[in-house]
Amino acid sequence: MSATHPVVPLGLLFMHRLQRWLARHRSLYQQADAVMFYQKNIRSVAHMPQESRPQRQKWIWYNVESPSNTLKLPGINNIFNLTLSYRRDAGIIARYEVVIKDEPDDHFVLPKKDRLVCWMVSNMWSAGSRVRTAYYKELTKHIKVDVFGLGVSVPLPAERYYPTMQSCKFYLAFENSAHKDYITEKLNGPLSSGTVPIVLGMPRDNYEEFMPGDSFIHVNDFPDAKAMAQHLLELDKNDEKYMKNFAWRRFYTATPHLLTLKNEFTQPTCLACDHILRDNRYSAVHNLYGWYHSSR
Ligand SMILES: *[C@@H]1O[C@H](CO)[C@@H](O)[C@H](O)[C@H]1NC(C)=O
Repeated sequence: MSATHPVVPLGLLFMHRLQRWLARHRSLYQQADAVMFYQKNIRSVAHMPQESRPQRQKWIWYNVESPSNTLKLPGINNIFNLTLSYRRDAGIIARYEVVIKDEPDDHFVLPKKDRLVCWMVSNMWSAGSRVRTAYYKELTKHIKVDVFGLGVSVPLPAERYYPTMQSCKFYLAFENSAHKDYITEKLNGPLSSGTVPIVLGMPRDNYEEFMPGDSFIHVNDFPDAKAMAQHLLELDKNDEKYMKNFAWRRFYTATPHLLTLKNEFTQPTCLACDHILRDNRYSAVHNLYGWYHSSR
């Protein structure tokens, strides 16, 4: 262990290019105290550089997907030393969390709004997304929803994400699946932008473990999409009521997260470096998928 040895975020590379890259940068790999592997890009254990792995090097399994969207790869249970995930029982926890302000303040100014309900979505039609797509379709019968994203009406480049988010009064922060603590940047986007998130995923009490109960609207707060739409239309006409959704900002701050594929690795890589520098204990993950896929 030494501070001069970096964590190499190999997840930045696609696995099929990994071997070629390693051939050219072998010395860097040999020096690294830890190597991060991005679960989505691991094609097979055979592609991982196990033979040349230095004894003291820790392998970090980095995953941002929920269990339903995490493929089980054979042979992977006994090769990692640390997990990096949104789960609070991971070795290294990577989440976007609301933090308490040192001093309460009332400086919040509502961004200019010219849209009512928005949704940015990339895989509206994938299998795991059926619940949220069904809710969205029902909702659009009663209220207008502006949809942005890959493969749907209006594609949205990263630099338009925050300005677009700010222009919406409400935002559908719908998770693609329901798993304990699986509350993602989909919620952090609106919270940090001054937009009211409408959440679908885990029940309300799991959300309230991470953020104040009045900072979001939960689909379960209403018997159906029609009742929710009525509530939103009412808030649209009543500024005083609408602003109550921002009362939490007096005491808490939400920080915008980094966008674009390249930057998405910045926060987890920093967290991994920090962990590796502070903690040089031996560790091994023996039943990775047993842990990850177990229902809690
Ligand atoms: C990392 O985990 C592997 C697999 O469990 C284990 O063989 C190895 O000794 C561990 N190394 C460190 C440095 O913790």
